[in-house]
Amino acid sequence: MNIKFIKNTLPTCDAHVVFVYTDRELSATATKIDKTCDGLVRRAMEVGHFDGKYGQIIEIVAPVGLEINRVLVIGLGDEAALDEVKVQKIGGKIMTKLISSGDKSISIAADVPKEANISGAEFAAHLGYGICLRRYRFDKYFTKEQDEKKPSVIGVQIMTSVLSNAQKLFAELDRISDGVQFARNLVSEPGNVIYPESYAEKIKELSELGLDVEVLTEDEMEELGMGALLGVGQGSACESLMVIMHWNGSEKEDEQPIAFVGKGVTFDTGGISLKPGAGMEDMKFDMGGSAAVVGAMKALAGRNAKVNAIGIVGLVENMPSSTAQRPGDVVTSMSGQTIEVINTDAEGRLVLADALWYTQDRFKPKFMIDLATLTGAMMIALGQEYAGIFSNNDELCENLIKAGKEVDELVWRMPLSKGFDKMVDSKIADMKNIGGKYAGSITAAQFLQRYVNDVPWVHIDIAGTAWRTEASDVAAGGATGYGVRLLDQLVRNNYED
Ligand code: BES
Ligand code: MN
Ligand code: ZN
Repeated sequence: MNIKFIKNTLPTCDAHVVFVYTDRELSATATKIDKTCDGLVRRAMEVGHFDGKYGQIIEIVAPVGLEINRVLVIGLGDEAALDEVKVQKIGGKIMTKLISSGDKSISIAADVPKEANISGAEFAAHLGYGICLRRYRFDKYFTKEQDEKKPSVIGVQIMTSVLSNAQKLFAELDRISDGVQFARNLVSEPGNVIYPESYAEKIKELSELGLDVEVLTEDEMEELGMGALLGVGQGSACESLMVIMHWNGSEKEDEQPIAFVGKGVTFDTGGISLKPGAGMEDMKFDMGGSAAVVGAMKALAGRNAKVNAIGIVGLVENMPSSTAQRPGDVVTSMSGQTIEVINTDAEGRLVLADALWYTQDRFKPKFMIDLATLTGAMMIALGQEYAGIFSNNDELCENLIKAGKEVDELVWRMPLSKGFDKMVDSKIADMKNIGGKYAGSITAAQFLQRYVNDVPWVHIDIAGTAWRTEASDVAAGGATGYGVRLLDQLVRNNYED
């Protein structure tokens, strides 16, 4: 997708997009288009009950004899209520309408009144960002898709009077979008394509951007005593791996890093505690937490963020076989704590236990945030609207909640307590890997907390948010890339030089 910012003169193109604010006159560009179309724009607004409410859209087919095919008139509502996310969603709505319309080129008159809550450059750049996010489509495995289903739009020109500021801002957002798309691709790929080794190779590609990528093999993890993670991968023909990404963007000498840790179960069959067949294919997305970490690291490196950040992902495949771990097995984690594996399907926490311990032990980070598609119970509690966060630190939670609102990747804090912690005590080892029937997301988080010392830590359970069957304004259906924008915004708000 080619997105260009141009000065305020109408280019030739297939579709024009103009905006209308509540109680405002048509802009100069809209008036010009209305005239070219013999007054069709005003007429359509009158007969279509169009009053410029946010998100209202009318589509007008241009009269015969003109070069353009179509005009979209879009309501933006009250300009004082506009914000970045609302503008991104408008960009997405434009894409949703036009992506397979047959039109190839679009121009958008990015007018924004002075009274608006957002600058002209922000408005233009976030429109472009929304367009990029919505344009993504995982279509590489279609070999005979009909032409009319394929996206037709190849170029978008955004008209703005603040060209260079818009370009500069968009260049940065486009790097974040790259991170989101990278994560979506990883999550969308099936388990026979993305498995620990191929996944690690993909991550190594990011060294182009200046990220240092390190891979720990099974032997090395064995040496480190990571019995919890290795137990999960024990039944798979694939070697388990841990990948460590380093981004050193801070200009301060020896600046302590921040750390992101991701669950990368490339396929979760449940292991010997096998999952039911129906819907098991969804479990290719069980590396969604790790994909968010990788995508966020790509975004940070891509936009040259002034921060030192570590991304760590535990990559394993959870398979049943004669070498697989059994329910009842006791494993010893890197921390020295022992775990009775009651249910081999509660594997994510076993992977994270060693990844978290390793991260705090080796890097002494300012904080650790882990992301994981950890529990089905999370979807029962918060649906697909919010990810749950669990933490030992109020300030970090506040910062995440704020960042989440700003990028529309919402998080909701869930409780941790001694009472819940007791629920993972085992009769024969230091802990067991499942709690009881109730509070499944919380007992999973309590388990993780046993691998976190004093370092500020947040666990984000993204089981409900990593994948959405239906399209939204900023994502086609499927992998959402949830977490990339959240982590990037957290860093941008709080942790850059
Ligand atoms: N990857 C799953 C969690 C999951 C399930 C995410 C469905 C999204 C949709 C995880 O490894 C798992 O299997 N968790 C079990 C834990 C249980 C055995 C305590 C679950 O949630 O059922
Ligand atoms: Mn599982
Ligand atoms: Zn899992």
